[in-house]
Amino acid sequence: MNIGIGGAAAIVVGSLLGVAVLVGPGWDVPPIEAEQIGWRGVAMEKVVNPRTRAKLVDASQMPEAVWPYEESPEGTPLASEIYENVPVLGHLPVDQFDRLMAQITEWVSPITDDPQEGPLEQGCNYCHNPENLAEDSVYTKIVSRRMIQMTQAINTDWDAHVGNTGVNCYTCHRGLNVPQEIWFTQDQPMRGMAGFRAGQNEPGIASASLPGDPFTPFLLDDQDIRVIGNNALPPASGPVIGTKVTEYTYSLMNHMSEGLGVNCTFCHNSRQFQGWEGAPPQRMTAWHGIRMTRALNVDYLAPLGPEYPDYRLGELGDAPKTNCATCHLGLNLPLNGAPAYLEFPSLGPAGLAPVAADGAPQAALLLPEIDGVVID
Ligand code: HEC
Ligand code: HEC
Ligand code: HEC
Ligand code: HEC
Repeated sequence: MNIGIGGAAAIVVGSLLGVAVLVGPGWDVPPIEAEQIGWRGVAMEKVVNPRTRAKLVDASQMPEAVWPYEESPEGTPLASEIYENVPVLGHLPVDQFDRLMAQITEWVSPITDDPQEGPLEQGCNYCHNPENLAEDSVYTKIVSRRMIQMTQAINTDWDAHVGNTGVNCYTCHRGLNVPQEIWFTQDQPMRGMAGFRAGQNEPGIASASLPGDPFTPFLLDDQDIRVIGNNALPPASGPVIGTKVTEYTYSLMNHMSEGLGVNCTFCHNSRQFQGWEGAPPQRMTAWHGIRMTRALNVDYLAPLGPEYPDYRLGELGDAPKTNCATCHLGLNLPLNGAPAYLEFPSLGPAGLAPVAADGAPQAALLLPEIDGVVID
């Protein structure tokens, strides 16, 4: 067969394109490391690209504290005795309060040589009117107050997930106003005869051919994460586990794997994906992680919607929200497992404003004294 010069050129260009597609994003250049973590023959292995991982590990270092933690000298006044408008942190000794302000600035709005592009000034003024620090006139201050409470809640109530390390503002923000991984509900209109596409085969945030937004049903609403129904036929009542639910479930699973930089067998026993028997313990941590992420979105992030300027909202007007990647950013242990509030006890259980029986804050307690005390 004579294909001619044009044909030959087309084949060469075609093969080069093919190679380019393979080596492009989403495909790892070998060698890849595989570590066996279960019985041979059942594909229980951890697969890691050591070069990609090394880059992620480098980029995920916890910054040093602005200055080291020291207990407050006896007699240090409380922030509430010095400042005017401190409902969340007023019970802290004032030196702890000031240190936290300086640290929050480094975590969320640092002044750098390379100023971030953005409408907001950095440094303290990112949250404050410099003329009057007590004023709640900048929206970021109102959002931050809620963020402080959210961080305390993660470290206090979600031990089952963040137990060994906890989180601080840097876990999500990494020195940026807006965390790198956030999500909004996708606008998914019905498309006439084509019906409901579920964001499939659209440039989505999750996986290309699966539903683009598995977050709204699973990490905001609490729909069942299932691929197999318990009955052979659709039940007369109760949820039907159809193909759509299955597709959404796999889309979430892809996000979880990518968000943590792991493959499916990090959490599943490949002998039976549904079963918990023989699954690695990380699956249980992930199960709590799903509930925690949902609670953060429902209780803290979604309700902040009305506080944000329009340019921060999604196409449907919803507030920016969190998923697994917001904290994990490609690693199974965010920030490589560095302790996040050891040096900032005010962001952990010890930092919660003590509440008296009548619900009024107990201003008299100093931070070192409430450390470890259960506040009922
Ligand atoms: C990311 C937001 C944010 C940044 C940046 C920030 N603050 Fe604050 N600041 C707050 C919040 C929130 C409160 C209220 C705390 C509360 O409700 O207990 C506050 C309250 C204060 C107060 C109490 C004012 C009063 O009289 O009520 C002072 C003082 C203060 N900040 C100083 C600073 C300084 C100095 C910096 C820079 C080093 C700074 N803050 C950076 C969020 C921020
Ligand atoms: C679980 C992850 C997470 C943690 C932890 C967290 N944040 Fe946030 N934060 C978010 C998300 C998501 C947004 C929404 C991003 C946006 O504004 O577009 C946000 C937004 C903000 C904003 C508004 C940014 C803007 O310019 O609109 C401020 C200010 C802020 N956070 C401060 C804090 C502070 C201070 C802490 C620690 C006390 C903290 N955050 C901890 C996830 C987090
Ligand atoms: C980080 C841990 C983790 C990773 C990684 C992970 N999963 Fe899951 N998977 C879970 C958890 C936890 C559940 C149960 C969710 C629930 O019930 O809330 C689950 C549920 C499932 C189910 C539903 C089973 C049922 O009950 O019907 C399937 C199927 C599944 N995963 C497949 C996968 C696949 C395929 C991958 C890889 C692309 C994967 N998972 C990656 C943790 C994980
Ligand atoms: C608020 C931040 C945050 C969010 C959001 C978050 N995680 Fe985590 N996750 C952590 C921290 C911190 C740890 C480390 C805890 C420790 O070392 O004990 C962790 C640990 C884990 C582990 C154990 C890893 C290991 O090597 O043992 C799994 C699995 C996990 N997360 C899955 C998830 C999944 C799945 C989601 C989303 C549904 C999620 N996480 C969302 C902060 C978060």
